[in-house]
Amino acid sequence: MDRIFSGIQPSGEIHIGNYVGAIRNWVRLVDRYDCVYCVVDYHAITIEYEVALMQKRILDTATILVASGLTPDKCIVVVQSHVPEHTELAWIFNCVTPIGELERMTQFKEKAKQHRQNINMGLLDYPVLQAADILIYKAGYVPVGEDQIQHVELSREIARKFNVRFGDTFPEPKVLLSDAPRILGTDGNAKMSKSLNNAIGLLDPPEAIREKLRTAATCPHRQRRSDPGHPEHCNIFTMHQAFSKPDQIASIDRHCRTAGIGCIECKEILFKNMVEEIGPIQDRVREIHKRPQYMIEVLKSGADRCKAIVTEVMDEVRTKIGVKSEWMS
Ligand code: TRP
Repeated sequence: MDRIFSGIQPSGEIHIGNYVGAIRNWVRLVDRYDCVYCVVDYHAITIEYEVALMQKRILDTATILVASGLTPDKCIVVVQSHVPEHTELAWIFNCVTPIGELERMTQFKEKAKQHRQNINMGLLDYPVLQAADILIYKAGYVPVGEDQIQHVELSREIARKFNVRFGDTFPEPKVLLSDAPRILGTDGNAKMSKSLNNAIGLLDPPEAIREKLRTAATCPHRQRRSDPGHPEHCNIFTMHQAFSKPDQIASIDRHCRTAGIGCIECKEILFKNMVEEIGPIQDRVREIHKRPQYMIEVLKSGADRCKAIVTEVMDEVRTKIGVKSEWMS
């Protein structure tokens, strides 16, 4: 089976944008691929963060992955820092990566603008660690959103550069682009994000979700109930595409255009469908919280299973680059 690797940052609260864009997609892949899903804590420290909250964020993120269906019988869930070989390989990759390539990364340029006070080496080196994450498992496919294509392409280039210099070692991973609709924040303008206060949390209680939907932006061209709507300009319709059944989506599309259905009713249908899908995930999170030992076991076994894979690959790498001494085993 081909291997898949993807990563998620333990930054803040997971929202339905993360769920639809990444996690739900990851769940669909577990039967067809050998999947490793990673909570990338070493990536998260490249920007300012609250040290006291980090442990909770790592655990909460991993818990959501498991509760969403990424259980240990189906795939590996692992925390990046539990497998230090990722950072070791990143160092080796540093020595085949041209700085110019890193400086032209869109995400680096954006983050450097947002964090002028702290443009650290880690921020620049971020994509090299990401390449190490992927290549240390010799993953063939990387399910990510549009914004990560450039990073996966760089990891292909790093693989090529390493292979040319030290001999064929790493396959070039391919992007597996999700066809999930891109949900915007409840303001209908910006990408969903907790810091913009426009996010619907995956673990928000149903009543909070209902309230957020009630006040959420709809089609800007529809001022009155009698105006015909334009679903293609409505973020609520995008959410329907993510959470409602095909016949329901078609019917809402038709009735919105003819003003046959109002926004209040439309949102109520969405609310029901959303809660139907994420309610069971919330239930499983509550179940997991009742057994704290369970997540510790999941993450320990995840780290052990990864260790077996990466030990072999790092042995090959150290041999190829000439640092492995014969008397070391
Ligand atoms: N950079 C990714 C993001 O922000 C997270 C990530 C880290 C990742 N390592 C990865 C994604 C390896 C895919 C593969 O979403």
